[in-house]
Amino acid sequence: MARLTLVAAALLGLGNRALALETCGQSQYDPAQYVCWNGQFLCPVVAGEGLSYCAGACYSKFMYTCANSVLTLLPPVDTPFTLTVSNPALPTLDGKPVTAGGQRWTLGGQTSSYCPEQVGDACPPGNITAIVASEGRAAMDVMVPGGQLVYLDPNWNVGYTQAHSAHIPSGSTVTGFAAYQGGGFVNLNGNGWGWVACPPTAAGGGGGSGAWNLVAKNETNADRLGACTPVNLKVNPLPAGTVGAWQYT
Ligand SMILES: *[C@@H]1O[C@H](CO)[C@@H](O)[C@H](O)[C@H]1NC(C)=O
Ligand SMILES: *[C@@H]1O[C@H](CO)[C@@H](O)[C@H](O)[C@H]1NC(C)=O
Repeated sequence: MARLTLVAAALLGLGNRALALETCGQSQYDPAQYVCWNGQFLCPVVAGEGLSYCAGACYSKFMYTCANSVLTLLPPVDTPFTLTVSNPALPTLDGKPVTAGGQRWTLGGQTSSYCPEQVGDACPPGNITAIVASEGRAAMDVMVPGGQLVYLDPNWNVGYTQAHSAHIPSGSTVTGFAAYQGGGFVNLNGNGWGWVACPPTAAGGGGGSGAWNLVAKNETNADRLGACTPVNLKVNPLPAGTVGAWQYT
């Protein structure tokens, strides 16, 4: 009996160490899932970001700021920008760029762009994936006449139009994007389920390139995206007037 009790105690001890619960006011919490503010308020960790606390509300720094205890949307970014993946709990992708290729955005892939011979030296290097956004819409930051519009395709992957074509697959969504200064690139469609990164092998994965796929999560598709990891997309502003490429391919 004494021996059994010892074993049980040892197991319990192990369990507690594995979980390493911490205390926040009256509650115990798992620091992998929550952060404690002012010794008493718990906010969840979402996409590896411990949400911040503002006068009773938890918020993401990718979208909001707290000024004098008032939650305020960050201002929209007004220059071109690149995007990098943010989720410290997913070190394979954390800090890797969002890359345009094959008419869609992938994560940690290669930027794929084209410069016509006759344009030659006037083309930007085309080695970064640059984006512009305003008034709910987003576009690739390109020189090609007509531009390249960004949209959510019917599977809620991020696509962009081919150069010289206005074709967008039917059932796509062209509005509801926001890019915040000092914050993130956010999909406001579908009630804020956020972005997920899908490994190349998972359903909705990035195909043969080894890059991960980016999908906008929502109530309907959440179930089939179980193998994917929530991520934020960090906005990295470029100097005003920067052009990313002649066109992305
Ligand atoms: C892109 O190309 C330019 C010009 O060759 C180079 O200066 C720059 O470092 C490159 N940037 C990246 C991110 O590879
Ligand atoms: C969610 O995304 C799926 C594609 O993955 C799309 O078919 C569906 O219409 C979307 N649901 C909502 C509520 O917008």
